Amino acid sequence: MIKVSPSLLAANYLSFGDAVDKVIASGADALHYDVMDGEFVPAITFGEGLLGFLSKKPIDMDVHLMIVHPEKHIKAFADAGARYITIHQEAAGFGTIDTIKLIKECGCLAGISIKPFTSVDAIADVLELVDLILIMTVEPGKGGQKLIPFTLDKVRQIKEMCEQRGVSPIIEVDGGINTQTAKSAMDAGANMLVAGSAFFKAEDPKGFVDTLKSL
Ligand code: DX5
Ligand code: ZN
Repeated sequence: MIKVSPSLLAANYLSFGDAVDKVIASGADALHYDVMDGEFVPAITFGEGLLGFLSKKPIDMDVHLMIVHPEKHIKAFADAGARYITIHQEAAGFGTIDTIKLIKECGCLAGISIKPFTSVDAIADVLELVDLILIMTVEPGKGGQKLIPFTLDKVRQIKEMCEQRGVSPIIEVDGGINTQTAKSAMDAGANMLVAGSAFFKAEDPKGFVDTLKSL
């Protein structure tokens, strides 16, 4: 079963609560919460404070940490109500395994992400440890970009590596997902789809989610 996780990054920032209600009403499975620190990526977005309010709503919070030193912030995001916490391999470096363990100790599902130009080999050591693998299908940092086609080869590779090891973490894709690109991502092996612009620009968000789930 495919999970859909609309990204708050593309919402109307005048009313975050309404945006979450819209995501819930659409039948989506999670709310994708993009945290940017102005260092790992140029922009700055939201922190644990806002998450603490939004997580009171009945939907899983899918927190994507695009930040350096993620280990310093895991507890804060877990306490604020995150269900999934995904860190970047490029940001966590040698501390990746410890940070993944910390996420689990805090009671959350642990995810590892790689940018388009990071090889899947960089996360080979953690496949057995994580609950989710997030393959970035655009350069992280902003919404509304076009999916980079070669990133879907990495989805295929990671799916194959997981099968060989006998593990089945969620495989999530993020960036440029719409009703056209979603099909190719799913064919490649993705089973959780982030959609920012395509969801929030859709005239019928529920229809959009239903379409993704029926592809
Ligand atoms: C980009 C973020 C994405 C972004 C996706 O750095 O990680 O989650 O919100 O936006 P769209 O779906 O518009 O490409
Ligand atoms: Zn994201």
